Amino acid sequence: MNILGIETSCDETAAAVIEDGVAIRSNVIASQEELHAQYGGIVPEIASRQHMKAMMPVVQQALQQADVELGKLDGVAVTHGPGLAGSLLVGVNSAKGLALSHDIPFIGVNHLEGHIYASWLEDDVDPSVEPGFPLMCLITSGGHTDLIVMRGHGDYTLIGRTRDDAAGEAFDKAARVLGLGFPGGPAIQRAAESGTGAEPRLPRPSVKGSLDFSFSGLKTAVLRRAEEKGLYPPPKNGELDPQQVAEVSQAFQEAMVDCMVTRTLKAAEDHGVRGILLGGGVASNSHLRRQMADKSPVQVVVPRPALCTDNGAMIGAAAFFHLRGGARRSWDLDVVPGLRLG
Ligand code: KG4
Ligand code: ZN
Repeated sequence: MNILGIETSCDETAAAVIEDGVAIRSNVIASQEELHAQYGGIVPEIASRQHMKAMMPVVQQALQQADVELGKLDGVAVTHGPGLAGSLLVGVNSAKGLALSHDIPFIGVNHLEGHIYASWLEDDVDPSVEPGFPLMCLITSGGHTDLIVMRGHGDYTLIGRTRDDAAGEAFDKAARVLGLGFPGGPAIQRAAESGTGAEPRLPRPSVKGSLDFSFSGLKTAVLRRAEEKGLYPPPKNGELDPQQVAEVSQAFQEAMVDCMVTRTLKAAEDHGVRGILLGGGVASNSHLRRQMADKSPVQVVVPRPALCTDNGAMIGAAAFFHLRGGARRSWDLDVVPGLRLG
């Protein structure tokens, strides 16, 4: 079964052809990163206009690379939320048009569910063999930091979420303070590699009696630390000491990762899960991946770093399991910018 997965919820225009929910026949991503970098964050109107320009060339390339004709597809799947309304609209309307033109089954996918199914995208995964449910999923990205118990395909319960900033948002804001540019996560990770561990630790905020996250205190703490060290506001000559930036980046990354690992392990223990699954852009962070794998008593499943950030492949994978379960969506599927999972 070949499914075209389309993703436009934020700043990547992406399309992929996925066979039987696990095999990537093509995976094309047109990133708008450089376009938004000059503004230090995503500008919604620029994002939707750019999706309009990139959408059809990206779809064409995905079909060509997979060597599949549009009319031969078994499904067209698209992210319909959560995300930026204007960006989602481009993807949903394009997908509807493509599906309608050849009478192909059409399905809307929750972006967060897509991040979960990125873990199924390995060539050696057999879609009929179930992973050890229940799984504790940590979906950590620029818009979300959610803890979700997955008891089976399509069966989700949200048990924890961020009370303020998403983890990716905190990485992006800290990077801005440290003069590292956008997107901040990869930049902080790179800078942290030169840290020596000399920096005094930053706080690990937690929400008492709950599995929720809170990152705003840590974001303020990194700002104060940068001010104390003369890194922020940036000096007049614009030159920041790279070693100082590396030390603060490392302390920040360690605190962020510690918060996520500690909460996830507690949630995993409370719910007696058989595995932990990571997804979303922040799950590509090498320190998070290593710490979770080292500290977890149960199996940890994480997609390849390139499949943690937004892509169409994960949408095609999630849709396969929906279609296999008999799901169909009607043509009046709407975008839901605040869509939740579980
Ligand atoms: O999942 P994603 O591509 O888009 C959303 O759904 O939000 O996640 C993007 C977020 C950005 O905030 C980016 O800074 C963060 O993921 N990110 C990282 C890393 N790579 C991307 N954060 C920490 N470490 C990384 N290596
Ligand atoms: Zn995402």
